[in-house]
Amino acid sequence: ARPVTVPDLHLAKQAGKRLTMLTAYDAGFARVIDGNGVDLILVGDSLGMVVQGKANTLGVSVDDIVYHTGCVSRAVQRALVIADFPFQADASRERALDAATRFLQAGAGMVKLEGAGHKLEVIRHLVEREIPVCGHLGLTPQSVLRFGGFRVQGRDDAAAAKLREDALAVQAAGAALLVLEAVPSSLAAEITRALEIPTIGIGAGRDCDGQVLVLHDMLGLDSGHRRPRFVKDFLAGSGSIAAAVQAYCSAVRDGSFPDDEHSYAH
Ligand code: KIV
Ligand code: NA
Repeated sequence: ARPVTVPDLHLAKQAGKRLTMLTAYDAGFARVIDGNGVDLILVGDSLGMVVQGKANTLGVSVDDIVYHTGCVSRAVQRALVIADFPFQADASRERALDAATRFLQAGAGMVKLEGAGHKLEVIRHLVEREIPVCGHLGLTPQSVLRFGGFRVQGRDDAAAAKLREDALAVQAAGAALLVLEAVPSSLAAEITRALEIPTIGIGAGRDCDGQVLVLHDMLGLDSGHRRPRFVKDFLAGSGSIAAAVQAYCSAVRDGSFPDDEHSYAH
């Protein structure tokens, strides 16, 4: 199948086709994910938790993401591979450009970074230098210390207004895609309608333009952490990893995942 490109993302939104994304960190899983219809593969800094066994994502390095992006990219033929900025590697335009260049040279086709605010100039800097960017708002795990834990975001009117404003600003800065994590479904729906770029939800309800889950979560592996509401085990009842990936893609595409049970009403 023809590789997924950055312009395809916008076309998918215009055509009303939901995008499927999963994380992967190695060649074996990347191959089965890619071979069973997933459009986007994220080499997430979640690897700090699910691969390295750390309590949060703050200890991941640029070298880690470069290494795992290489492992994944070598196995992928169709999906667009997205490399995730680790903590503070996107803190300045210069650091971000150096890291993103290494991610693309390792095989990524896009990079992802958390936040708005001072990150907006970083997004602009990268996009102007031909590096496609995916934003990430809502429960940004690199903000865990300020949030005081992994908490749903955008619940009160002021926080919702700020999130809407940030989403528009991330788009204006040049991002081609936006992950919305752990926000009320109605707010994610509103943001999705307001944006021209596709939104990818995780704990953000069914009205996003696509969905993402951490691979280990959708295969039902116990992370050793409290399981968030939005996690669903697609391996249970599927019989194989390939079938689980197919079941996830079908459920995302037909809008049956996430249902209310796996979303936040407010
Ligand atoms: O690191 C990660 O896996 C992520 C996704 C959960 C969006 O950022
Ligand atoms: Na991440």
